Amino acid sequence: MTPPVTTRGASMNVHGPRGHARALIIGSGIAGLTTALELGDCTVVTRSDLGDGSSRWAQGGIAAALGEGDAPDRHAADTLTVSSGLSVPAIVEMITAAAPERVRWLQELGAELDLDGDGTLALGREAGHSDRRIVHAGGDATGAAVMQALVAAVRERPDITVLEHRHVRDLVRANGRVVGVTAAGPGGEPEVLFADAVVLATGGIGRVYARTTNPVEATGDGLAMALRAGAVIRDPEFVQFHPTALDATPDPLPLLTEALRGEGAHLVDADGRRYLVGEHPDAELAPRDVVARANWRQRRRGPIYLDARLIGDDFPTRFPTVFRATMAAGIDPRTQPIPTTPAQHYHIGGIRTDGHGRTSVTGLFACGEAASVGLHGANRLASNSLVEGLVMGVRVADAIGQQRVRAIDPAHLEVPAPTGTPPTGMASPGPVRDADAVARLRELMWEHGGLLRHADGLRSALQDLDRLTSVLERDAVGRNLGVVAGVVLRAALAREGSRGGHHRIDHPDTEPGPGRHTLVQRDDIPHLPLAGSAVLDGRDDRHEVAS
Ligand code: SIN
Repeated sequence: MTPPVTTRGASMNVHGPRGHARALIIGSGIAGLTTALELGDCTVVTRSDLGDGSSRWAQGGIAAALGEGDAPDRHAADTLTVSSGLSVPAIVEMITAAAPERVRWLQELGAELDLDGDGTLALGREAGHSDRRIVHAGGDATGAAVMQALVAAVRERPDITVLEHRHVRDLVRANGRVVGVTAAGPGGEPEVLFADAVVLATGGIGRVYARTTNPVEATGDGLAMALRAGAVIRDPEFVQFHPTALDATPDPLPLLTEALRGEGAHLVDADGRRYLVGEHPDAELAPRDVVARANWRQRRRGPIYLDARLIGDDFPTRFPTVFRATMAAGIDPRTQPIPTTPAQHYHIGGIRTDGHGRTSVTGLFACGEAASVGLHGANRLASNSLVEGLVMGVRVADAIGQQRVRAIDPAHLEVPAPTGTPPTGMASPGPVRDADAVARLRELMWEHGGLLRHADGLRSALQDLDRLTSVLERDAVGRNLGVVAGVVLRAALAREGSRGGHHRIDHPDTEPGPGRHTLVQRDDIPHLPLAGSAVLDGRDDRHEVAS
């Protein structure tokens, strides 16, 4: 039965299928929709249209050991090498072992994956992979093709309710477990939705950076909500920056897939000099973080370009997404080098979960980019994120199916009162009110919380952030952006060493040993959502179990 709801200063509708769902899945990318399809009898709540979000933008593919001579343990070994010591081996083994079957599942669902002339899956190779194991669709339109199949499958399922254009604001708890969410409906009206389980599949945090390939939905809502509800966040300082995005005005910046460099495209300065030659033996094919930092340094000296002219007349058919974006910016990649910048691309850290997506709060699950299950460690291997969503969606569904649920005790219901106004225009939740404060936040994160970090810059960014707090908090999205920025900056300040995607100019040496995790909880950060000078304790978290 749905309990009565009272909150300070607001009346709320109790909304949902029969007033209470078996599970609420927040977010409709690859992880959220896979969970919904595997679980059934659930409700998907999404901020824009079903299927919008980062997954749809993925140009890179799905890594799975499907080729002759390849094997899941080879995929696992590559993942562990790139992860710089912080991934959880049992999780890496579990996900890489499940990957081939998940690709076949996608094909059965109707996703049109690229095939070779003989009708078998075409397998590409990307940096860090020892074998050809990257599955694509539509050349560089993998995310779009996969999401089209998932969205169509969800729309056909009568047991999955879809609530679009709802901005989930906070988690509702009772007796220490999560029992629902508060949300703003399509017209901004406050709602409370109840469920036996809540799954945060809200994607990444890219919008805290001035330069990002992430769409407008990637504002770290899940991470901020989980933190407010008391969940443990792991390694938030690990943010992956892509070396090559189109240096132009669109926001998000169009990605220039690293497959272009795999095909022989070169990075050059304004004089046509290949500045990566001599910097790393693999030059443009060096690990992604190495190329991204070199591009950051070189971009400070002047413009940089990706010269992909050698691809020639095949460009529009082989890289249709990149071709459309560059042509829209007035650059013909067949005849002109492409202006390039590094850009934020993926959040490696996130809400800590076990191998079934369970967070540290009962009733709360997370999967996909919002989660830190232990696959990526300190550095993500290319094309390992779509596959993570496909595998973890199944595991979360399995865990929810086995969950024993108690009735909600209305006397102990904790419903956070609405804070901040709803985002402006639910259909395109990019612009937030007080846009100047958000723009300032994004610039200071790009400058000080980005590819090269220093204690002085991180401290000054935290001070600036504190000054912006009161303005950011007026807006539901601005508040979350502020929480996320504060957590990333504090964790980056606390990690006095360099590892994977986290590089400290003042501590350039790689941390010794296998490394330690940064764990953050609400109590570590006084006066949530922003202020305070929390010291993150870097508690040892290496005893993770996969079950
Ligand atoms: C790319 O195509 O360069 C991106 C692939 C990924 O981030 O996994």
